[in-house]
Amino acid sequence: MKICAIGAGYVGGPTMAKIAEKCPDIEVVVVDINEKRIAEWNTDHLPVFEPGLLEVVKAARGRNLHFSTEIESNLVDADIVFICVNTPTKTYGEGAGKAANVTYVENCSRLIARCAKDGAIIVEKSTVPVRTAETVKKILHHRAASRRFEVLSNPEFLAEGTAMSDLEHPNRVLIGGDTTPAGQAAIQAVVDVYARWIPRQNILTSNVWSSELSKLTANAFLAQRVSSINAISALCEKTGADVSEVSRAIGADERIGSRFLNASVGFGGSCFQKDILNLVYLCEAAGLPEVAEYWHQVVIMNDYQKRRFATHVVRTMFNTVAGKRLAIFGFAFKKDTNDTRESAAIYVCRDLLIERAHLVICDPQVEPETALQDLRACGAFDSGVDESNVTFNPDPYEATSGADAILVLTEWDVFRDLDYERIREQMRLPAFVFDGRNLLSGEQLTQLGYQYSSIGKNGAAAVDSSHAKED
Ligand code: UDX
Ligand code: ADP
Repeated sequence: MKICAIGAGYVGGPTMAKIAEKCPDIEVVVVDINEKRIAEWNTDHLPVFEPGLLEVVKAARGRNLHFSTEIESNLVDADIVFICVNTPTKTYGEGAGKAANVTYVENCSRLIARCAKDGAIIVEKSTVPVRTAETVKKILHHRAASRRFEVLSNPEFLAEGTAMSDLEHPNRVLIGGDTTPAGQAAIQAVVDVYARWIPRQNILTSNVWSSELSKLTANAFLAQRVSSINAISALCEKTGADVSEVSRAIGADERIGSRFLNASVGFGGSCFQKDILNLVYLCEAAGLPEVAEYWHQVVIMNDYQKRRFATHVVRTMFNTVAGKRLAIFGFAFKKDTNDTRESAAIYVCRDLLIERAHLVICDPQVEPETALQDLRACGAFDSGVDESNVTFNPDPYEATSGADAILVLTEWDVFRDLDYERIREQMRLPAFVFDGRNLLSGEQLTQLGYQYSSIGKNGAAAVDSSHAKED
């Protein structure tokens, strides 16, 4: 059997590496139009940083796992084709800012129609708007009428940073397909691949539309939890409640559960915002404005949380950060990934650059050029701010030399265990720490002489201080 995945990104790369590891008899080829990306997949400096990934890739690469830019020749004899291309939010035209841009999926469908063999099973892995499979089917039907293809939906639920263990032990694998005998046979073929290492009862099957909608709904529910606890964090800061204590108390209720209740500077990543906006767009298009508005509020709350954090920094630092040196601890959207898509850090940094701060970005995995591109794209330099106001230093001790404040924006473990006494000695006084991840010990830092503040804590003190006036 041969599997060909189109798209060697954060989903396609790790997922196919795991399949190749678990199924040594299946030939797995990951293709991409991006030559640089493919070249990197063929070195030991992978384009995706993910704990445990390199080991799996090294063991299978050249054996039954291949990365290639030769798309057509690899599609020709594939039995199963996984579409793993990105579907960013549309930036233009109808649905701009909300709908998913499915251009790349459409391009893939045309490629498949041109090259894939009769009977190939086409699997959507990318998160797509509900009913995208219909589009794929139509294109295949019109452009390759003499060949028959089954189109399945098999959304990926892995989270970045824990992708390899998520792929090893998924809570569930979901495969949606037609109820026709051919559809069911195709589902079975894909079930058989996953069943090599995943208990059969964890492999769920459904119709295509349920499968597509489940992915959007799962991300909407998870993001909703983060926005819900972040909303409560704002209230905690106005009162004497501590959001960690509230999280612990409510999470102990089994009906609520303890996960995804960490208040933060705001959620990021390529999925949450995009998928919710996509859901909002679908609801609007379906004539359900109340439902659309309900989910939209999750994104509005997240924007508020990011803005609130930046405002708090400025107000606490005596209403100005102009010319001040701020060490940014973490730029990735979460720890253990080099991905910065929709990272809260982008927006916090933009707001502080507009206030004319000087930023030193310190992240163990993010490439400086990636962060600069993100900042350019969100307009950080549009109001005449010079790019030289942003520098990079992967060494936290060097990044904090002469700094006025540290902003923890990603919860990398390395930031937890630093010598904060040594750091304070080289900072300008008063030395501020703004902990956007509630990662550090406030008590310890306060004892060391820092002005420490975090998310959703010390509300009673805040009521008396100037930053209690924040909205
Ligand atoms: C998410 C889903 O978890 C995954 O199932 C889906 O396949 C893709 O989208 P991912 O975006 O990789 O995965 O990471 P996730 O762990 O869900 O975190 C998303 C964001 O929420 C991060 O910015 C994270 O820091 C933030 N978050 C998460 C919080 O702020 N608090 C929490 O309690 C949990
Ligand atoms: P995700 O997080 O969904 O995996 P990424 O952006 O990391 O998203 O990866 C998607 C990959 O898909 C990119 O490397 C991109 O070059 C690739 N891609 C997009 N369109 C095509 C296409 N038509 N043919 C081949 N690869 C494509």
